[in-house]
Amino acid sequence: MIHTICICGAGTMGSGIAQTAAAGGFRTILFDVNIEVLQKGMTAIEKNLKNLTEKGRITQEEQQAILGRMILAENIKDCHADLIIEAIVEKQEAKLDLFRRLAPYNGDQTIFTSNTSSLSITALSEQLPHPERFAGLHFFNPAPIMRLVEVVRSPHTDDSTIQTLLDISKKMGKTPVLCKDAPGFIVNHVARPYYLEALRLVEEGVAGFDTIDDIMEASGFKMGPFRLMDLIGNDINYAVSCSVYEAMNKPSRLRPSPIQEKKVKDGELGRKTGKGYYTYLH
Ligand SMILES: NC(=O)c1ccc[n+]([C@@H]2O[C@H](COP(=O)([O-])OP(=O)(O)OC[C@H]3O[C@@H](n4cnc5c(N)ncnc54)[C@H](O)[C@@H]3O)[C@@H](O)[C@H]2O)c1
Repeated sequence: MIHTICICGAGTMGSGIAQTAAAGGFRTILFDVNIEVLQKGMTAIEKNLKNLTEKGRITQEEQQAILGRMILAENIKDCHADLIIEAIVEKQEAKLDLFRRLAPYNGDQTIFTSNTSSLSITALSEQLPHPERFAGLHFFNPAPIMRLVEVVRSPHTDDSTIQTLLDISKKMGKTPVLCKDAPGFIVNHVARPYYLEALRLVEEGVAGFDTIDDIMEASGFKMGPFRLMDLIGNDINYAVSCSVYEAMNKPSRLRPSPIQEKKVKDGELGRKTGKGYYTYLH
């Protein structure tokens, strides 16, 4: 029975997942090692809820109740929950280190999940003490709005863990889809060429990034590839491209782009840093 959910990482995804979990009725702990990000994440949640109240989508009482279910944590010792959703940097070692440090503060019923976009759930689980209670729980950006959640099963995940994750996703108002553990799962695998081919056109001087965005949006896509990469975060999108490329044995069609690599090196990560392909005012 899931009563408390702890989200580790309060960045782009973590804060949105925390809002979704609290709105779904769960006591919600939001943890980050960076206090500024934690406060920024909470401010974003408050702003989103205020907007929803003003639009009449939730009542004032519901807004207060959602906020009342949220707890901010700066110390890993406070991350005691029935379900952990990890949403930190897209690096296997960082994620494993976090899960190992969370273990002593959690019981033998706690389910551990990762919101990773591309790392192998099987490889992560095999380095953790309870692979049967480990799975991928992949939300999409922005988490409070996007309905899809990929529930990623490894060969070690047990049935009751999967059933619990399908149930709690529905309680959060999401549409869960059960996926096998494959590079990029389903969505990030299918979507890879959308980013990579667009980057290739810029590399080859065929068109500018803003022209490509305008054309793709005019032809029916909700967001052009460069606006979407800025929303996702260029560091995250580049890390996903690299890990899918490696996992697929480096096919030339999936080669990560030097343009995006440079964006990451220059710290031009997109909306979260105020500059990516475009410039954003905070
Ligand atoms: N950005 C997207 O569109 C998107 C979509 C789906 C899934 N994801 C996945 O979600 C995860 C997080 O992505 P994001 O875009 O939110 O990243 P982000 O850079 O916005 O936030 C990551 C946060 O993790 C915190 N952090 C780093 N190490 C930590 C630790 N050891 N303990 C606690 N907090 C720590 C950082 O301070 C930062 O606030 C990644 O695995 C990514 O692949 C991202």
